[in-house]
Amino acid sequence: MAEQNSIHGLWRSRWLFILAATGSAVGLGNIWKFPYITGENGGGAFVLVYLLCICLIGLPVMIAEVLLGRAGRQSPINTMTAIAKDQQVSSAWAGIGWMGAMSGFLILSFYSVIAGWALDYVFNTASGAFSGVTAQQSGEMFSSLLASPLTLLFWHSVFMFLTMAVVARGVNKGLEKAIQVLMPLLFILLAVLLAYAYTLDGFGQGFDFLFSFDFSKLSSESVIVALGHAFFTLSLGMGAIMAYGAYMPGNVSIGKTVLMVGALDTLVALVAGLIIFPIVFTNGLEPSAGPGLLFQTLPVAFGQMPFGIVFGSLFFILVAFAAWSSSISLGEPVVAWAVETLGMGRIKAAVIVGLVGWVLGIGTILSFNLWSDVTLFGKTIFDTLDFLTANIMLPLGGLLIAVFVGWKMRQNDVMAEAAMGNPLLFNIWHITVKFIAPVGIAFVLYNGLK
Ligand code: PHE
Repeated sequence: MAEQNSIHGLWRSRWLFILAATGSAVGLGNIWKFPYITGENGGGAFVLVYLLCICLIGLPVMIAEVLLGRAGRQSPINTMTAIAKDQQVSSAWAGIGWMGAMSGFLILSFYSVIAGWALDYVFNTASGAFSGVTAQQSGEMFSSLLASPLTLLFWHSVFMFLTMAVVARGVNKGLEKAIQVLMPLLFILLAVLLAYAYTLDGFGQGFDFLFSFDFSKLSSESVIVALGHAFFTLSLGMGAIMAYGAYMPGNVSIGKTVLMVGALDTLVALVAGLIIFPIVFTNGLEPSAGPGLLFQTLPVAFGQMPFGIVFGSLFFILVAFAAWSSSISLGEPVVAWAVETLGMGRIKAAVIVGLVGWVLGIGTILSFNLWSDVTLFGKTIFDTLDFLTANIMLPLGGLLIAVFVGWKMRQNDVMAEAAMGNPLLFNIWHITVKFIAPVGIAFVLYNGLK
């Protein structure tokens, strides 16, 4: 179809695409958000629905998104415009790219604030502030961080700067190298923490909480949260994966590659849950503590274990890195668009995108303190942004992507671009993307919002 190359460069190998896409997927969604929404939604049954959403909807849509990116070889907005033209369908399909750009800004704005918490915790842990703390003290320390808008603003600014500095340099130059070292390190540390959690009295209870299915605890809001999280954690529905797909070498088969990314992402989330819930139950904490769950539980563990200061600081550094390799993929689609369409330099584009995200982030910061009683439909600004993006905009983006690839594109073109190698696999995927994914998303959105 379109060009064989992207003006922004290509990943140097299939492996680097996997690493970059996994870097985008594995982030706060896995380590911070998955455990706390699982806690809020009652555990096992929620996890099961989430896994179903990943397999039946997330992975098929991810293949579709990568495929679109690689076929168009440009930023999502321009990719969708080009493919719509090539396929002779309405140019309104570029709306997928526009809505994605908007979701990207909104997610980036709060993502950076939360990643800032992790940065703050690097220093707290390193200073020994958590040595021997009780669960209650740890909770109070977290509350006092949230109560300080200036501290939050400081770390939000640092994180936004780091993110845009990488996007400004182009993804090839800095990040490819950094995540090659850091992602494996993150896996090792998670394994160490898992081994620690295994020794705790509450391990069995934590395990049961995650894996025993009690459907009476599941509301229709839980189902929409599970679906939304499947999109959020796989970085789907807003163009991040489409943009990364645009830099994927042409000869790589998309199916297997995507499965690998999905499997790694899911593994990290489940391991994070298996670390956090045993700590929760061992220390008599509440699984439904909300967004602070990670930050209230782990310091207690680090405060008790041998070399906790070292492990703890390293852990929060890696959380910040996981968030970093995700946040650049939030900025990349819009920056790439500005470079292509407005003829802007990358640096200028990154500065502007970063500034907009930074200003929007102030709303999230204030929603934890000065504006905590400003609400929309009973949700704070942060909760509203989170719900609107993850649970509505991303699934809607995914729905449109599935319909576009399943129904609007010529099947031959789709087949050629997917290069699955195996016709049976292709057919299974194509049917899923045509029927199961769109119907599933529409059903959940309709029921959840009704
Ligand atoms: N997938 C990332 C995470 O789990 C968040 C993200 C969402 C990144 C959407 C890019 C696009 O933390």
